[in-house]
Amino acid sequence: MDTDRTDLGGSVPLFPFPEGWYFVASRKSILETGLIQKTWLGQEIVAWCGSDENVCVAQAVCPHLGADLAPAAGGRVRDGRLVCPFHGFEYDVSGQCVATPFAPPPRATTLRVFETRELLGMVFAWWGIDGRPPQWRLPADPPSGPDWSGLEFRTVRFPGHPQDIAENSVDLAHLRYVHGYDNVKQVGQTSVDGAVLETCFDFRRTRRIAGIVKVVFDVAAVTRIFGLGYSYVEVRERSIGMDTRLWVLTAPVDGRLVEIVLAGQAREMRRPKRPIVGLRFLPVSFRAPLMNKIIISA
Ligand code: FES
Repeated sequence: MDTDRTDLGGSVPLFPFPEGWYFVASRKSILETGLIQKTWLGQEIVAWCGSDENVCVAQAVCPHLGADLAPAAGGRVRDGRLVCPFHGFEYDVSGQCVATPFAPPPRATTLRVFETRELLGMVFAWWGIDGRPPQWRLPADPPSGPDWSGLEFRTVRFPGHPQDIAENSVDLAHLRYVHGYDNVKQVGQTSVDGAVLETCFDFRRTRRIAGIVKVVFDVAAVTRIFGLGYSYVEVRERSIGMDTRLWVLTAPVDGRLVEIVLAGQAREMRRPKRPIVGLRFLPVSFRAPLMNKIIISA
């Protein structure tokens, strides 16, 4: 694995693939696709769901003779096992070869798998320098319930490094000039504990919804960062009583590009009687998903 430093023009070159937990895919998309392939931290990986519902994230290289296991090369999932397109060896979600078409499975033949953690249906995998195990844990699932909408996802890619994105959480000046927030104020002290950073800030934001009605949001935000791949923002809107959650999930692609997945979730408003773009006239089951779409597309 190439762990050379990347020079993106800053004063200190950065390791292209910092250790941490990085988003792979949602469980929903893995189930819909059957076998997902992606370029992730400079390597090709596959992800699939076994018959026991556990998700496996593995290098897309067959340990038998090195065949490509990606679906485009013929890799497929059958009965919860990944089947190599070259000689038909089958792998379970632990990465172990458990069957071949013509002989007992060789016990020493195993995929290189990555430790995974699933959080509200989002699948993360740990990338450790020289393969070392996780050095910190992701947080527990946040409280959930029927008043929360489903997760909405948006993905963007551009040249950069995950540190560039993580630094934005403490760069309050950019919130005004890039995102158009007003009255941005730090609340309390930023705390750092190992790989975990927590910071709080308030701001106001004026948005036109449906291009017509102007709404001023009065917001308190708490950001928690776990390493460079996982950033979680709890947003409490005071004027219309709306809670939202935003995950900013950054993963290096190939040492040059980063992929950012924005995942958002909105809660049914606490005070929907306040007039806001006719939302009070919508069925309750539509309001939170609609607000979630508006927020994630911002
Ligand atoms: S290379 Fe995969 S089974 Fe032979």
